[in-house]
Formats: sequence, C-alpha cells, structure tokens
Amino acid sequence: MNVYEAVTSRRAVRGFIGREVPEAVLERVLTAARWSPSGSNLQPWHVYVLTGEPLAELKKRAMERVATGDPWDEREYEMYPPALKSPYRERRSAFGRERYGALGVPRDDWEARQRAASANWECFGAPAALFCYIDAGMGPPQWADVGMYLQTVMLLLRAEGLHSCPQMAWSVYRSTVAEVLSPPEGLVLFCGLSIGYEDVTVRHPRTGRAPLDETVTFVGRAGRRLQAA
Ligand SMILES: Cc1cc2nc3c(=O)[nH]c(=O)nc-3n(C[C@H](O)[C@H](O)[C@H](O)COP(=O)(O)O)c2cc1C
Repeated sequence: MNVYEAVTSRRAVRGFIGREVPEAVLERVLTAARWSPSGSNLQPWHVYVLTGEPLAELKKRAMERVATGDPWDEREYEMYPPALKSPYRERRSAFGRERYGALGVPRDDWEARQRAASANWECFGAPAALFCYIDAGMGPPQWADVGMYLQTVMLLLRAEGLHSCPQMAWSVYRSTVAEVLSPPEGLVLFCGLSIGYEDVTVRHPRTGRAPLDETVTFVGRAGRRLQAA
C-alpha cells in the first residue's frame, strides 16, 4: 500500500470484527510511529495500548456509567470552541447529518444520537485501543505534534490491513480510563483510538471534504494555473 492509498483509505471506522490484533503488529506500528516529527523533537505523546481483559474492563466500566446516567467528568480541554463560526459550524452540521442520517437517527432526536454515540464506549467492537495523553503543561504546538503522531499511527495501521477510529469521546470519561491505566499525575487524556479489522457489513458513508480551494490557497505559478483553468 502506498502513502496515497493509506491516506485515502483511512477513515473513522465505527464497526470492527472481534479478530484479535497481533501484538507484534501493534508493536511494529508503534515502533515506526516513533519517527513522527515534533517541534524540537519533544515527542510529547504518552501512549497506552489496551487489549484483552483490561480493555474489556474499561468498556464495562464506561457502559456502567452510561447506564446509571453518571455525568461526564469535568473537562480538561474544550473539544470545540463554544460558538463555532462559519464555515466550521456548517461542516459540523453536515457531518452530523451524514453520520446520524446513515444510522436512520432523526436530526433532533438527542436521545437516539446519544444511544448511537454510546458505541464509543464499546470501541465500536474493536479488540484493541490506544489512549493518548499529553503533559498538561504543553501548548498548541505540542498538541499539533500529538495529532501528527496519531495520523502516523493510523496510516501505519492501514499498511497492516487494520482500521481505526480516533475518539475524543473518551475524554469525557477520563477518570474511568485513568482507573484502568493509572497514568502519572499531570497528564491530560487527549483521545482514544479504537483499532481492529473492519466489519464490512456495517454501512459507512464516506465523510466528505471541502473542495480544495476552500482550504488551500496557491500563491505563485500554481495559483495562476488554477485561476486560468
Ligand atoms: C481528534 C479526533 C477526535 C475524534 N473523536 C471522535 C469520537 O469521539 N467519536 C467518533 O465516532 N469519531 C471521532 N472522530 C472521527 C471524526 O468524526 C472523523 O475523523 C471525521 O468526521 C472525518 O471522517 P473520516 O475520518 O471518516 O474521514 C475524531 C477524529 C479526530 C481527528
């Protein structure tokens, strides 16, 4: 698989079969992902990989919280700015329509949306998951480093025939994740990443993207060529 194929075939997969992910494969991926770039080579990611019994225990504890209506943990970071402006607001709405529309969940049925979202706590059936922390003292550039690292992991997983789903959702149950992982003080849980083999019977609409000229501006010769076209 070349890099273009890895990039375009990666998507947030929300349905996995139970087939185990060999530990050697996870180790190979995470060994290679160490080569991700980071400002001044800080490598600010702290990663825990969960499989087997500990992952089952985490899913169970999270589902118990959902079942008992336990409120979410106090936020350590805001997932999104409180008032999203255009065009982000429209993109977010379009994503919600695509994701929940495909599941047949009506737009204003908040409870049904929550039920669909609760599949997050089962890691969508994935037999492996990674949890990525960052030191609380780090700033936006280091959070960007962590994002690059996670994309590197996701692309390498594609090269191994695996799929994944990044999940900020886990941050709302960060104390439950911490009960299972016991991370040292001072780390913030950025997100989880479910990992496994895709369940191809689960319907997945391809999430769209903005046209190139909405997010990229070419300046110089390439720009002139685009304008002429
Ligand atoms: C940092 C990050 C956090 C995300 N959190 C969640 C999540 O909690 N649950 C979920 O189902 N998808 C989550 N996603 C997946 C996005 O919804 C998805 O990447 C986006 O809609 C684009 O779709 P695609 O990845 O399938 O192309 C997350 C993605 C990123 C990059």
